[in-house]
Formats: sequence, structure tokens, C-alpha cells
Amino acid sequence: MTPAPAAAARNTSIVVGGESKQEMKSKRVINGYVFVCSKSTESECFKESLFGSGKAYGPAVLRIKRGDVLFLNNLDKDILYGIFRAASDGGLNIQPEAWHGKYPYQVKVEVPTNMLELSNAKRTLRKVKWSSNTILSGDRLAYILDKFAYEASSMGGLLLKRRLVLRDGTNENDDKNEVPAIEATTLWYFPKQSYGASPKGDYKYSGVTPAPVIYNLIWKYTNPGDLVVDPMCGSGTTIDVCTAEKRRAVGYDISPVRKDIIQGDARKIPLEDETVDMVFVDPPYGDNIKYNEHPGNIGKLPSDSEQYYDELEKVIVESQRILKKGKILAWLIGDQWIGNEFTPVGLKTYERLSKHFEPVDIICVARRGQSSHTEEWINRSRRLNFYLRGFKYLIIVRKT
Ligand SMILES: C[S@@+](CC[C@H](N)C(=O)[O-])C[C@H]1O[C@@H](n2cnc3c(N)ncnc32)[C@H](O)[C@@H]1O
Repeated sequence: MTPAPAAAARNTSIVVGGESKQEMKSKRVINGYVFVCSKSTESECFKESLFGSGKAYGPAVLRIKRGDVLFLNNLDKDILYGIFRAASDGGLNIQPEAWHGKYPYQVKVEVPTNMLELSNAKRTLRKVKWSSNTILSGDRLAYILDKFAYEASSMGGLLLKRRLVLRDGTNENDDKNEVPAIEATTLWYFPKQSYGASPKGDYKYSGVTPAPVIYNLIWKYTNPGDLVVDPMCGSGTTIDVCTAEKRRAVGYDISPVRKDIIQGDARKIPLEDETVDMVFVDPPYGDNIKYNEHPGNIGKLPSDSEQYYDELEKVIVESQRILKKGKILAWLIGDQWIGNEFTPVGLKTYERLSKHFEPVDIICVARRGQSSHTEEWINRSRRLNFYLRGFKYLIIVRKT
């Protein structure tokens, strides 16, 4: 099927039929989401006016706002059903019993009386580069809507065409809707520090954590509403990621740089025992970065001294204390090569962690975009026969 002339492609702020006058006035930008179903799950979608997904699509589902445009892709039939509108925001367990609890990330749906079917769904979705957690906006949403408009008119019904109001607006920036992938392997690489429309932490903060590291951890090991604690919160990346992903977060730092970070020492966390669902720690990796002059700053201790590990073990013990049983501590750490000497900070940290926790996994977080990887340092590493640090360990352990 050829799409209708792509009027929509030029008009990238999209309002779809059924909108109230107020919505038209406020020019609310509407995003599109694709749910998938199979022969066996389709009927419940329509019977309950509910679309659902597993955790792998959770990040996109939680971003759905009432009024957004939805499609349903039946994978067995290769059909895309549309056009639906979200009758609620996306959420967790709106109807917990639906699909026997298998697809808990859900949204209530307005099923149109004139529902349309597009064949070759796979091909259409490939055209707009859709994959799990893609939020469709701008030209990509317009492309699919055009296809439905064409389908409707070819059926002799101009109804849908009338309902589609595609109008000029500011160019939608797809970056705003970017949702990082859920990583599948133990090798992670993130070219950018942040993701999405709002900053996550401060990319200029020395030693800032890549936001997708925290994003991946919380999607793997926590649920919306869970409490995540970062006892060495720096520029607040953990707080910002948790807010974006609908988790609660508490961040401490010995020298806070933001009002929502609580001044505190990670060796003495002011929280009750067994109250926390995940702890994330990205500590100083020794004394290579000058964080602040606070006497309690562990970043003043060199990583080749035992005292550095002794102090961090106190943070490990505190994390163990505040975590609920069975919950995760994730620790990001890099080795050091300073003054012609190598210190295996990661392995030495693991020794301390393993005294108090059971191992879950170790991820290699690649450091390709490091600011130290300059031409000058690359040449120096070749001349002087040493390696620049190319990865960090993300050590994941569980409270037994
Ligand atoms: C690698 S940075 C954390 C970066 C942070 N995750 C971010 O994305 O911005 C390490 C932080 O540990 C803090 N720190 C050092 N000693 C501390 C202590 N005893 N208690 C709490 N925070 C401490 C430093 O001030 C610094 O902000």
C-alpha cells in the first residue's frame, strides 16, 4: 500500500481527532505508542479496553499521557490496528488481574467504533524505525497516521481524514522522546551522559555517572514507586533518573551541590534498617579528582592505601544495613594507573563487597568518550607502554 501524499511529514506537531477545544488551543503535542499482542492476547485488549506490556516496554508505557495516540500490533497476523487514544496515563497494574498479571505495564484505551487495520505492520514499523520503547512523534507518527488516513479514504470513508488534524507547529525534536534501550549484555557503552528532554545530573561535574547506567539498573532491579538511595550523589544523576522513571530517590553527598541532595556522610546514612529497594554508589576512585575540601571526603584518600578500602567498606556495611533483604547494591568503579603504577581498584573493591553481599553480576561499562582519551594521551600511552583506562566495573551484589 502506498501512503497518501505526506502532508503530515511537513507538519510535525500533531493533533488527532476527538480533541477538545482546550487541547487544540494549548496545542498539546501528542505522542504515539505501539503495543504488541498475539492471537491469544488480542481479545482481552479489546474486551477490557486495555493495552498491556511486560517490563521490557515499561519505560515507554510510563511516559504515555491520557490522549496520546496508540496502535496495536498483532504479531501473529502482521496487522496494525488503530487509531486508539489513551483513556488514562500509562501505569503499573491498572488492572492487575488482566492477562493473569503477565503484562502489568498498562493503559486504558478508547476503542474507536471505526477501527482500521493496516496489513504489513512489520514493514510500516520498520519504515519508522520502531523498536521496543520507541515513542513516535513528529514525522514518524505522521507517517503512520497518513497510512491510516489513506486506508480510511480507500475504503470510501472520509471520516478519518476529517478526524485527522495535522497542523504546523514547532519541529518535534525526537531526542526529547529518547528512551534508552534496556541492555541485554554485560558490555555497556553510552556515548552521551544523559538522555531525554531534561538533564540527568550535570555533565560538567567531574566524575558524573552516565545516566543510562542508573536507568538500566533501576529498570532491571526495581519497580515504579520503589525507593533508591545514592549515598554519594554528586550532581544528582540518580535523583533525576529516578524521577524520570517514577521511582523515589534519596541522595546524600558530603558536599552537596544541589538543594535536593542531603548533606551527609555515606558511612552513616540516616535511614532505618531494611527500608530501601536499591542502593547505587559511584564513589571517588581514589584521589585523582579533587571533589571538595570537606574533611569527610573519601576522595582525598589514594586508592593504593588500605584506608581507602576501609572507609569504603563502611559505606558497604551501611548500604547492607538499609537495604531490604534480597535487594541490590550496584557499585561503579574504575581501576587506576598513576605514576607508572597500576592499582586494581575494581577487584580490591569486589573483595570488600563480597564480605557482605552475594554476587549477582559484573558489567563492563566502556569509557570510549573519556575526556582523557586525547591525541596527546593516546600517544603517551603508546610511547610509555601503558594503557589508558578503557572501562569501569559495575559490580552488582545482593543482600542475602
Ligand atoms: C564520582 S562522584 C559521584 C558522581 C554522581 N554519581 C553524579 O552522577 O554526579 C563521588 C562523590 O562522592 C562524594 N563523597 C566523597 N566522600 C563522601 C562521603 N564520605 N560521604 C558522601 N559523599 C562523599 C563526593 O563529594 C563526590 O560528589
